Amino acid sequence: MRAVVYKGPFEVAIEQVEDPRIQHPNDVIVRVTSTAICGSDLHMYEGRTAAEPGIVFGHENLGVIEEVAEGVTSLSRGDRVVMPFNVACGFCKNCTAGFTGFCVTVNPGFAGGAYGYVAMGPFVGGQAEYVRVPYADFNCLKLPEGTEKETDFVLLADIFPTGYHGNELADVRPGDTVAVYGGGPVGLMAAYSAMVRGASKVFVVDRVTERLQKAEEIGAVPINFAEGNPVEQIREQTAGEGTDKGIDAVGYQAQARGEDREEPATVLNSLVETVRPTGALGIPGLYVPRDPGGPDESAKQGMLMVSIGRMFEKGLRMGTGQCNVKRYNRHLRDLIIEGRAQPSFVVSHELPLDQAPTAYEKFDKRIEGYTKVVLHPHE
Ligand SMILES: NC(=O)c1ccc[n+]([C@@H]2O[C@H](COP(=O)([O-])OP(=O)(O)OC[C@H]3O[C@@H](n4cnc5c(N)ncnc54)[C@H](O)[C@@H]3O)[C@@H](O)[C@H]2O)c1
Ligand SMILES: [Zn+2]
Ligand SMILES: [Zn+2]
Repeated sequence: MRAVVYKGPFEVAIEQVEDPRIQHPNDVIVRVTSTAICGSDLHMYEGRTAAEPGIVFGHENLGVIEEVAEGVTSLSRGDRVVMPFNVACGFCKNCTAGFTGFCVTVNPGFAGGAYGYVAMGPFVGGQAEYVRVPYADFNCLKLPEGTEKETDFVLLADIFPTGYHGNELADVRPGDTVAVYGGGPVGLMAAYSAMVRGASKVFVVDRVTERLQKAEEIGAVPINFAEGNPVEQIREQTAGEGTDKGIDAVGYQAQARGEDREEPATVLNSLVETVRPTGALGIPGLYVPRDPGGPDESAKQGMLMVSIGRMFEKGLRMGTGQCNVKRYNRHLRDLIIEGRAQPSFVVSHELPLDQAPTAYEKFDKRIEGYTKVVLHPHE
């Protein structure tokens, strides 16, 4: 089958790879109809991880079940399903507590598995014609038959739940004011989720015009950090108080204000200043224990200068970590089915698989409005 294969820094290619096979009685093989490119894929694409050339990317997968192993009980050939990017067993200590992003069964020695992702286990990615889904009864979420709302549903694999997770971590409640740093797909989904949860006012901080425009279209207040200190801009619009809650949807590749360089702790420190005393911070943006591309020695070791003293003084709470997609995807699916949520507004491009190399290049440069790309392997 054809698949998106990582060749080395800034290079992916469409290559022929082996078809996935059933390996366990609870596997299914899914014929992938939609698979999205993620900001997290770019961390590997840019050569900033230990990802080895040859890995097939793709952890945001939706498709139709092609083959069912004999131990699968709840699924049949022909079912349309979307899979959480987390591969999870469903029965370990963390899974049974709802922390499916930290499954201890699927990737021993490390909590958490994912398709097509470095250090996240042996699971081949789904930017391909087919993908093997292990623990299929647990990992497949059934969707209505047909092809309706495909672009909304594919976002259930990662970014819609991840944006929602940012709100859970920050404990966003009806009436809250919320500051979301980052207007990428995850940030836009976090802002959108905040509104679904009844936030009274939501700010989205970024400097990319198209992204700030999308934020405004969904009713958020755009804050351009290139035009002035975002903390002050938000304070001015919250009667000097700051927001109740804050979400980091940027991660360790945060850009310094007014300069073309990374400053990995800048968003965390801005959040500490943006959120009012006793508020809470949700950090779905990715921070890593090692970053060979980090701007200084501490950053390379994953250690950042974060104002913990100010956090303590203000009594701020903070939640971090990978999204436990399974915990939210059923509810978010039902909001989509009932027309109460349409997350596909973030999708900027739908392309055949063959165009993945160009899509990666443009998405990485954040040019030509490339915000979120969905690939269709069978078109
Ligand atoms: N926790 C999870 O499970 C999970 C899942 C998916 C993605 N992620 C992570 O979420 C983060 C965002 O993902 P994405 O796909 O939206 O990425 P993205 O790179 O498209 O978006 C990040 C945005 O942040 C903006 N930005 C950069 N510096 C900034 C600053 N100082 N202040 C405000 N905005 C700034 C950029 O302009 C960009 O638009 C990434 O770190 C990704 O790895 C986490
Ligand atoms: Zn993703
Ligand atoms: Zn588990």
